[in-house]
Amino acid sequence: MATNEAWPAQLGPVICVVGARPNFMKMAPILRAFAAHRPALPTLLVHTGQHYDRDMNDRLFDDLRLPHPDINLEVGSGTHALQTAEVMRRFEPVLDAQQPSCVLVVGDVNSTLACTLVCAKKAVPVVHVEAGLRSYDRAMPEEINRVLTDQIADRLYTTERSAHANLAREGVAEERVCFVGNVMIDSLLSNREFARPAAKTLQLAGFDPAVVDDPSGYGVVTLHRPSNVDREENLAPLLAVLREVSDQVPLIFALHPRTRANIDRFSLGKLLASERIVLLPPQGYLEMLGLLAGAKLVLSDSGGLQEETTALGVPCLTIRENTERPITVEQGTNTLVGCDPCAIRIGVNEILAGAGKTGRVPEFWDGRAAERIAADLFQWLIAHHAQRSC
Ligand code: UD1
Repeated sequence: MATNEAWPAQLGPVICVVGARPNFMKMAPILRAFAAHRPALPTLLVHTGQHYDRDMNDRLFDDLRLPHPDINLEVGSGTHALQTAEVMRRFEPVLDAQQPSCVLVVGDVNSTLACTLVCAKKAVPVVHVEAGLRSYDRAMPEEINRVLTDQIADRLYTTERSAHANLAREGVAEERVCFVGNVMIDSLLSNREFARPAAKTLQLAGFDPAVVDDPSGYGVVTLHRPSNVDREENLAPLLAVLREVSDQVPLIFALHPRTRANIDRFSLGKLLASERIVLLPPQGYLEMLGLLAGAKLVLSDSGGLQEETTALGVPCLTIRENTERPITVEQGTNTLVGCDPCAIRIGVNEILAGAGKTGRVPEFWDGRAAERIAADLFQWLIAHHAQRSC
């Protein structure tokens, strides 16, 4: 929204926090929208360093045209408590030094909650993008991160209207919440034309690109949830059913480091040893977009892929018992199949028989969510700080 108002000199920058892979595609359009807003919202990009590999980090920064972080806290991996504590310890001096007007966090990873907690004790306003999503499964670390972040956040931006009912149930005042749509879909729409074709991705990774020309198409697989991959008794049956599915449709499986490590630890590699299963390292954003856009189906336990497949109109079988993104099931192309091999087989058969969901694109998943956030946040910050100085 154009305005004649200038950025008030007494207001510090908006500290924008990223930590892990799914944060990057959410933050890129936000930074661009803040720069394009008149007046521009000054930002400072802080990377906690939760994800640090070239595959999990650098390639995505390049693909998404994300600027280098102004500050990298370099926390790396650790237990949940260690990682959260380390982010908090290293983020606090950044707040003290920068005196931001607010801190903007996205999603539900450990870095999201850690930075939010630091702000709460320092009376720095927190802005949460992708607020109000609930799986109602407290065994998921992300669910704890979501609930607590939303309790503390001062301004909450939502991707779907169901989030408003969730927040109301938890006592979050309605005037703190604003429906803006989905910034991850902003990224998808603005990058779609640059997506790398699937055949090219396979070729560059040293595989036969003809896999994608199979008469039944191809499937894309990702798995990384601790509940699916950390225990052999859960992971082995999932890999076995993938092996079966690959007899019907070739699969391209992008392996998260956690999953690859567990396949090795439990010696399960033999289950995936097939010409019809291509194992890739974590993919760049443009590679993944190309793989998804051309896929016949997607099998995944990811949060983001549920939304991206809905936006692309590609059927997705989500290997989880629940989802915090119900709109992808109600309106989009997502089906929850849980971890039951039988349900997975049925879902695949339906899609291959042409009976997969086609879905429709949800309200405000239109590529302009970040613009709405910039417009609202500018006004909100002016009002919030005016009230404080009264
Ligand atoms: C985190 C998020 C999850 C998100 C996922 C995307 C939390 C609680 N979870 O899970 O919501 O869906 O990111 O990937 O924040 N590792 C590497 N290189 C890296 C990063 C991690 O090898 O750059 C390995 C390490 O062995 C690490 C493990 O992956 O211990 C898990 O990483 P971590 O950040 O703890 O959680 P994710 O499973 O990636």
